[in-house]
Amino acid sequence: MKKVTISTLIKMKQQGERISVITAYDASFAKLFDEQGMDAILIGDSLGMVLMGEDDTLPVTTAQMAYHTRSVRKGTQRAFVIADMPFMSYATVEQSYANATQLMAAGASMVKMEGGDWLLDSVRGLTDRGIPVCGHLGLTPQSVHKLGGFRVQGREQQQAEELVNQAVALENAGALMLVLECVPSVLANRITQSLNIPVIGIGAGPGTDGQVLVMHDMLGISANYMPKFSKNYLNECGDIRKAVSLYIEEVKQGKFPTEEHSFS
Ligand code: KIV
Ligand code: NA
Repeated sequence: MKKVTISTLIKMKQQGERISVITAYDASFAKLFDEQGMDAILIGDSLGMVLMGEDDTLPVTTAQMAYHTRSVRKGTQRAFVIADMPFMSYATVEQSYANATQLMAAGASMVKMEGGDWLLDSVRGLTDRGIPVCGHLGLTPQSVHKLGGFRVQGREQQQAEELVNQAVALENAGALMLVLECVPSVLANRITQSLNIPVIGIGAGPGTDGQVLVMHDMLGISANYMPKFSKNYLNECGDIRKAVSLYIEEVKQGKFPTEEHSFS
């Protein structure tokens, strides 16, 4: 079994093979997802909502992220492992170094951070020091109070242009992957085509290089509401392994997401 690396994922983009990603927070689910052939596993700070029952991701700490990252790492043999940097753990460049170190030491192969222009020095600095960075643009849940809720981003022309520019700037600063959350499909397609690095969508339509879902949403067991862009695969399959396998298959074949799970 060949380990998935960042080079594998970049090659998949080049060859037009879609990338399947899911969140996990513990060794058992990570192992199950890994065995079904998931390309990448994200320890999302969504754990604040789906594990801790908080209203948003803001209370999550780096220590908690490191704890779950270590667990996921233990359960994963093949998939690429990405860990979220939590709220305000990368507010300064120095903080981003210290806290990314914790997550890499816990077993992550890449760290993910939400934001655009203000983040470029950290992205460059971490990349130069050997820590691969995944950007996250569009709906950035750590900014929910500034955004005025969990809403679709980039619907207005000016905001859309800004998102394209920020995506390009992140790639130029060294980011090796990008998550796009809750943006219109047309904008997501444009950003995906503008970048050489893989773009992973959630609520960003079918045109990105890959898809990511929160595991509790795709199993329909989330403590929170079910977002429009998610799909309950367990409901359809009645078996967790089959549900995961069908999710991967639908991502690979471009059958998920459909219009129903996307924004125009
Ligand atoms: O925290 C998370 O689970 C995420 C994904 C939804 C992209 O950031
Ligand atoms: Na997150």
